[in-house]
Amino acid sequence: MSTTSNPLRDPRDKRLPRVAGPCVLVLFGVTGDLSRKKLLPAIYDLANRGLLPPGFSLVGFARRDWDHQDFRQIAYESVKEHARTPFREEVWKHLSEGMHFVPGEFSDPGAFDALAMAVKELDQTRGTGGNYAFYLSIPPKFFPQVVEQLQRSGLAEHDDDSAWRRVVIEKPFGHDLTSAKELNDTVHRVFPEESIFRIDHYLGKETVQNILALRFANTMFEPIWNRSFVDHVQITMAEDIGIGGRAGYYDGIGAARDVIQNHLLQLLALTAMEEPTSFSAEAVRAEKAKILSSVRVADDPAQATARGQYAAGWQGGVAVKGYLNEDGIPPDSRTETYAAIKLEIDNRRWAGVPFYMRTGKRLSRRVTEVAMIFQAAPHLPFSQTDTEELGENALVMRVQPDEGITVRFGSKVPGTSMEIRDVNMDFAYGESFTESSPEAYERLLLDVLIGDPPLFPRQEEVELSWQILDPVTEYWASQPKLDQYKSGGYGPRSADELMARDGRAWRRL
Ligand code: BG6
Repeated sequence: MSTTSNPLRDPRDKRLPRVAGPCVLVLFGVTGDLSRKKLLPAIYDLANRGLLPPGFSLVGFARRDWDHQDFRQIAYESVKEHARTPFREEVWKHLSEGMHFVPGEFSDPGAFDALAMAVKELDQTRGTGGNYAFYLSIPPKFFPQVVEQLQRSGLAEHDDDSAWRRVVIEKPFGHDLTSAKELNDTVHRVFPEESIFRIDHYLGKETVQNILALRFANTMFEPIWNRSFVDHVQITMAEDIGIGGRAGYYDGIGAARDVIQNHLLQLLALTAMEEPTSFSAEAVRAEKAKILSSVRVADDPAQATARGQYAAGWQGGVAVKGYLNEDGIPPDSRTETYAAIKLEIDNRRWAGVPFYMRTGKRLSRRVTEVAMIFQAAPHLPFSQTDTEELGENALVMRVQPDEGITVRFGSKVPGTSMEIRDVNMDFAYGESFTESSPEAYERLLLDVLIGDPPLFPRQEEVELSWQILDPVTEYWASQPKLDQYKSGGYGPRSADELMARDGRAWRRL
């Protein structure tokens, strides 16, 4: 497939595209939601952008009585429904010729032997060069079994020095520090660290990577990015959806383990870390680890945290069920669907600046953002009535869905008085760039196939994040009380009280 003639490439872009070399991607858990909605469409989008090699092959492995054609049909439907780029028959035809299916149970050595034969055959027929990436989009309880089978069947090893093996693991990376270490030991028994790619899909988002561009490619933000100017930081990940069909995964995990341990703490790390010496994986990960090791829950968890569970309500004009009435949820479940935590960072740059995080399902709208709220001007030479509508200066990194950056500051209202009111200055991705943003999984899958690790957290970051969160989940486990909040609203009252205790309020959702 030619990359230079690809109509989706911006002709002004003179950089060489990052294109994957010959390889096979083996997808475990190919019948799951993530595969259907994100991974298969992302693979098609990469092919459509000319970023996969001509012989690229995809092997699906699952406990289904499918043949190659059934797998291709499922993939076709998911691409048609969820791909980002236009459907092109010739791209699909080429890609689907390289799609194979191996049926089997994770416990069945015979199925893994068949898998080993299938990929070796692809090396012969499609020139994939003995390079295999194994994507484990499966519940973590199966990780040990699958990595052991990969080892036993010889799939984890290669005789040829130029060939590679990589394993991709999806979160959750354990459910606390101890289990995260155990999981890591299991994977490490078979794969060396440089072959392990832990996916946190937030790091694949353009707007998340842009936090580093904003901070370290410019001069005007960094001088005020510290305790001398910042009053506090609010990191929000609000969703308007419920748990959908994910009861089996979500119940017992809850909001804090599902997204704070990974996505939100990664956002915090990128926002608060020092400048890395370069953008190499080592340098970026070292700075993230350094900042995470200075983060702690601000206070006694009773004061510094809040949680809740969604009750029935209305969303977009439709009546929706409460969490306890969702299919597959036990009626006495105490899993939180909303979590808020106040954190502090013990270093010179941030001492005394609270970082408030909140996340929840079934809130009034979907928004993810990092908002730096600045201190008030030390003195206002205006009358009190003229500044009644002046709020705090703010810089908001809008991660999604309305991707961009907003700067809020006071401005004179036209007229004869000196009335001052807040205004917004906006940068919107959609208006400034002609290229649309690739999906996070497109970027991350390509990085795996190329072997480019900077956007993948290493084990140290995973463990530091659990270390921050464990005291909170332990405290919650000891507390019988769990607030309910109305679906379609703003979250539990206890979260507002957490802010009110500090004389602050959450940004409006
Ligand atoms: C996943 C969580 O990691 O992120 C889900 O498991 C959540 O619960 C999802 O809905 C949100 O992702 P995004 O990209 O839509 O913000």
